[in-house]
Amino acid sequence: MASFSCKIMALALVLSLVSSSAELQKLEHSIKNDGSLSLLVIGDWGRKGEFNQTQVATQMGRIGEELDIDFVVSTGDNFYDSGLTGVDDKAFEESFTNVYTAKSLQKQWYSVLGNHDYRGDVLAQLSPVLRELDNRWLCLRSFILNAEIVDFFFVDTTPFVDHYWNNPESHHYDWREVAPRQTYISNLLKDLDSALKESRATWKFVVGHHTIRSVSIHRDTKELLSSLLPILKAHGVDLYVNGHDHCLEHISSNDSPIQYLTSGGGSKSWRGVFNSNTDKLRFFYDGQGFMSLQLTKTMAQVVFYDAFGSVLHKWSVTKELHSSM
Ligand SMILES: *[C@@H]1O[C@H](CO)[C@@H](O)[C@H](O)[C@H]1NC(C)=O
Repeated sequence: MASFSCKIMALALVLSLVSSSAELQKLEHSIKNDGSLSLLVIGDWGRKGEFNQTQVATQMGRIGEELDIDFVVSTGDNFYDSGLTGVDDKAFEESFTNVYTAKSLQKQWYSVLGNHDYRGDVLAQLSPVLRELDNRWLCLRSFILNAEIVDFFFVDTTPFVDHYWNNPESHHYDWREVAPRQTYISNLLKDLDSALKESRATWKFVVGHHTIRSVSIHRDTKELLSSLLPILKAHGVDLYVNGHDHCLEHISSNDSPIQYLTSGGGSKSWRGVFNSNTDKLRFFYDGQGFMSLQLTKTMAQVVFYDAFGSVLHKWSVTKELHSSM
């Protein structure tokens, strides 16, 4: 009897150790009966319909219908210019609920925060009160979304960027529940590292607001190159998906299979900036648009569209199925 309860206690200890190594909240989404999954990715969008936000939304609705999408991913900068003022900010309806009205877009949205969101009341965007106003809305800081064949790792990238902390006079950032910064970042990287290590999904995609590689206005984010990228490389991440640059980009890596995909064309764009980059540039479009992802266990396809819903760029990759025996 004593040894039995001892075993139970040992088991409980092991279980608690396992769960403490993956602090990131884990969500689940089912795939289609045929084993496929499709979704749209949009970033940098909330401008009350202006700057072609509504046109992009209309085309997302049309393509979303065609692809029978399962959900939508937002790469952040959800509400301009300065996030939400509170859970009662009408911008939530004016920039989200009343803009993405198409039937195919009445699916779950999974969102991260962008730097502009941090200029407002961050806790409001994370609040379940918004889910009561529009049940599609779900924004968390960092989390994992498993959909059988794929694990999405959503990463809160804004706290990584030095100049948001070093120039507090230029903008006020809402660092509640983030500061002290070093503890927050090191815990996040540790949790992400163990979650990626534990992931058994065929595909591993990472979503964040900031660029890792970029040929546009924001260029590479050096803090992510040094601290986040090594973890993604170590665990065989397939795609890094971001916004922040108000354009569409596809960059392939010279030193890993990671593809860098920017979908930040949700509203205001046309910045007219192009910087060359040592990695392989596959596609760059300086205007509005969005991206789709279609997946099976053995194939992933990325498509970029402009504000008319025309296909601008297509890319796909296959994976061989290895027997687990
Ligand atoms: C809206 O989209 C069209 C077509 O891409 C573009 O010519 C126009 O400049 C855009 N308007 C704004 C305000 O960005």
